[in-house]
Amino acid sequence: MSIPITKPVFGPEELRAVQLPLETGWIVQGPYVKTFEDRFAAFVVASQAVATTSCTTALHLALAALRVAPGDEVIVPAFTWVATANVVEYLGGRPVFCDIDLETFNIDVDQMASLVTPRTVGIIPVHLFGLCADMDAVGRVAERNGLWVVEDAACGFGARIRGRHCGTFGTCGCFSFHPRKAITTGEGGMITTASHELAALAVSLRDHGATESDLARHVGNAPFRLADYPHLGYNFRMTDIQGALGCAQMDRAEWILAERTRVARAYDERLEPFDWLSRPVVPPGFDHGYQSYVCLFRPDAPTSANVERQSERRDELMAALEAAGIATRPGTHAAALSRYYRERYSLEPSCFARAHMAESLSLSLPLFPQMTDAEIDLVCSSLGAAMGAGA
Ligand SMILES: Cc1ncc(COP(=O)(O)O)c(C=O)c1O
Repeated sequence: MSIPITKPVFGPEELRAVQLPLETGWIVQGPYVKTFEDRFAAFVVASQAVATTSCTTALHLALAALRVAPGDEVIVPAFTWVATANVVEYLGGRPVFCDIDLETFNIDVDQMASLVTPRTVGIIPVHLFGLCADMDAVGRVAERNGLWVVEDAACGFGARIRGRHCGTFGTCGCFSFHPRKAITTGEGGMITTASHELAALAVSLRDHGATESDLARHVGNAPFRLADYPHLGYNFRMTDIQGALGCAQMDRAEWILAERTRVARAYDERLEPFDWLSRPVVPPGFDHGYQSYVCLFRPDAPTSANVERQSERRDELMAALEAAGIATRPGTHAAALSRYYRERYSLEPSCFARAHMAESLSLSLPLFPQMTDAEIDLVCSSLGAAMGAGA
C-alpha cells in the first residue's frame, strides 16, 4: 500500500463541471467564476468574494488595493510559505518577520505587538495548516495602531473561531485552491472582504485596472466600446473551467471537511501514546480545518543546541516512512530563513528560534478525505516501528 500526502477528491461531477464552460464557449472570468464567488462568499459568510488565479495573486492584489508602497513595513510570520512575504516585496514594501508560537505554529502575538514602527501599515496573520491565528489579539494590535489586516487563509478553508470563518476577521482574507488545499481548482485563489470599495478595486486590478469586465461589456448594449484603464492592474483572471470545478468542489465542501476531521481525530487517538510527537492543538472555541495534520517531532524538548541533531532524526524517520511507501513532509518552511530573505535582510536562525525549530522538526502526515482506517493504522504503526527501530 502506498499512501500519498494528499489526494484531491474528484468524481464524475468534477469531470462534467469542467466541460460546461467549454460547451458555452465563454471560458475566462465569466458566469461560472461568478457563481463560484457567490457560493464561496455564502460559505464563509462574507459580503464580497473576488476570485483570482492563486492565493499568491489574491494577496498581491489585496496589498495593491491597500496601496502598499515602497518603504512600507508589513508584519508577517517567519514560519509560513514564502508567498506571504513575497507579495510585500513585489510592491516595494518590507516584510518584517515575527516568530511563532510553537504549539499552534501561528504568529506570536506578543512579539508582533513589539514589531510595530511608524512605518508599519499592516499585518498578514497566517492561519497555518487550517488553524486560525489568534485574531482577537491581532485585531487589538491592528486597531491600536491603525493597521490593516490581510488574513493569509491559504490553508484556512473550514477554520473558524467561535463559529466565525477565517477570512472575515480582517480587512480581507485570501484563500488558495492549490491541490494541497481542502478544495481545489488546480491553481486558484479568492479574496473575501466586507468592503465594497476594496472588492471593486480588486475586481478592476485583477483585469488590468479596467473600469468594466469583458463579460459586463459583452452583455451590455455597446460591446464594441472598450473599457478605460485608470489603474496599473494585472492579469489575475480566473478561468471558468476553474470556476466550474470550484462549484463542484463546493458541493462536497461539508463532506470534505467532516472527513478531514474524522482522519485527524483518528490520528489524535492513535498517536497519543507517542510522547516524542506533539499533535496539533485546537484552542477552545476554534474549529480546525485540517488542511494538514502537522506534528512536532520532539524526543527531547527542542532547544537551539539540540535542534539540528533532532532534525536529522526527523529526516531519518521521514526517509523510513518514504521507504515504506508513506509520504510525509515538513509542515512548511521558515520563509524568513530562505536564502533570498536571509541575504537581503541579514537574517539567521537565532532571529526566529521557534520558526527554525518548526521548520526543522515539523512532520506533516498523509491526510485526505478518502483515507481509510487501515491506511491511518498503517501510518501510525509505521511511525512507531521506525522510532522503535531507532530512527
Ligand atoms: C500560507 C500560504 N500562503 C500562501 C500560499 C500560496 O498559495 P498559492 O499556491 O495558491 O499561490 C500558500 C501555498 O501553499 C501557503 O501555504
